Amino acid sequence: MHWTKLCLLLAVVAVATADTSAAPDVVLVGATGNLAQKYLWQILFELSQAGKVGRIIGGATKAKDVGTGLIDGIIQKKVTCAGCEDKVEAFRKSVEYVQLRRDEQYGELGEMLDKTGAPRLFFLSVSPDYYPQIAKNINTQARPKAAGAWLRVVFEKPFGRDSASARALSEKLVAELAEPEVYRIDHYLGKMAVQAVGDFRRANPAIEAHWNAEAIGSIEVVMKESETCEGRTAFYDRYGIVRDVLQNHLLELVALAMAELPPPGSAEPIDRLALLKHLKDASSAQLKLGQYEGYAAHVLADSKGKKASTNTATAATVRLEVDTSRWKGMPIFLSAGKALDERAAYVRVRFKPGHFEGGGSEPCDVLFHLQGGALGTATKVCSHLPVPKFPEGWERSYHEGGGSTGTPIEKAANPYNVLLRGVVDGRRDLFCGTDELYELWRVWTPMLAQVEDTGVKPQILPVGQPWKEAEEMMESGGVEHEEL
Ligand code: BG6
Repeated sequence: MHWTKLCLLLAVVAVATADTSAAPDVVLVGATGNLAQKYLWQILFELSQAGKVGRIIGGATKAKDVGTGLIDGIIQKKVTCAGCEDKVEAFRKSVEYVQLRRDEQYGELGEMLDKTGAPRLFFLSVSPDYYPQIAKNINTQARPKAAGAWLRVVFEKPFGRDSASARALSEKLVAELAEPEVYRIDHYLGKMAVQAVGDFRRANPAIEAHWNAEAIGSIEVVMKESETCEGRTAFYDRYGIVRDVLQNHLLELVALAMAELPPPGSAEPIDRLALLKHLKDASSAQLKLGQYEGYAAHVLADSKGKKASTNTATAATVRLEVDTSRWKGMPIFLSAGKALDERAAYVRVRFKPGHFEGGGSEPCDVLFHLQGGALGTATKVCSHLPVPKFPEGWERSYHEGGGSTGTPIEKAANPYNVLLRGVVDGRRDLFCGTDELYELWRVWTPMLAQVEDTGVKPQILPVGQPWKEAEEMMESGGVEHEEL
């Protein structure tokens, strides 16, 4: 019998001695790393205050006394609670530590966890190179034994560099873990403004009636960043902008903006996978690649003079299409770049001039502005469309020149907070499933191979400036530009 199945079977026949509906115990593997320091300890504190999680165990390769001291220091420095510092202090004292340097130490961890028998959430905040071995150690030595107590393991991107490597990695994971136990994070799916794209569509059947290639001239999904890759080129040079953000964040946005909606009133999530299956791969797509001026110097400095300039793209704009009768032939532009003029992310749905009676040749857009820029988070809807309803928690105002703007009333929670709650609640729709991952890579792999084989040189882009050629390419969608 396969080892995973055997372990699952053993888990099922084991005697239940604990409350399996209890809040899960959490093991943060990589508990002293960057992401843990930047977000995860704060969020674990918040979830523990909300009663969403039980025991919290930090795991790292350091010896017990060193690791315990480091985590103490991180919590003291990074976790904040205005006027409730005593709670942080109690949290700090409650956190446990386990050294996870050798495989057998997962057995010791398993014994620690068996004391409660609660469900188990592992967050792997480590390099993907370690995922297969850690998944194996969890499966063989740290699975919950109490019947019904679930196991969920959270993974961070990157999930491979192309279809073959993503498949190889996933196969190793699903040999140890069942698909419902695997939670792959795309932190864009945890952004309230990103989920609001789907929520807006669901709330507006009258607008949805025009949501097709007959009415819409093009859709743009744009993510501009002003930061460079300085200090990060070791990663960037291996991945580049397409793998870093187009392959995942931007395509998930395409899926939320274009997937068929579940029937009205249904609580089913939007089926992103179904849409992704119809995306044509990017191999014959119109494509522009850019690299900010000075990237080569950053590579040289980060590698301490060992690595010369490369063709790595730090900016890319590509035209995709979805092969369904609803969307046939309509251009979808994806554009992202580092070191551009501003930090801003948006999805712009550009209606064809003349589509709306009385609209004349004026442009008409639905603009989902997700973050950054002058607009921050806002949804702007042109006046020719039926008056929109905004999702719950958003308020309407009217903008200059007609049309409505929706803005969220409260500041959005950190996406990692949303996603960790999502893991506890079993919200698989907030995560990237294995089939979804394969579809995401299917779109890019042939194009990435072509670019590498032919040694295409990216256009050098001045730092801090708009990328004119990309904007012109999106313009060629045939719709007049509305000022953002
Ligand atoms: C990450 C990318 O996934 O997303 C980074 O690896 C990028 O390169 C980041 O900067 C952007 O995320 P956000 O939430 O700041 O828009």
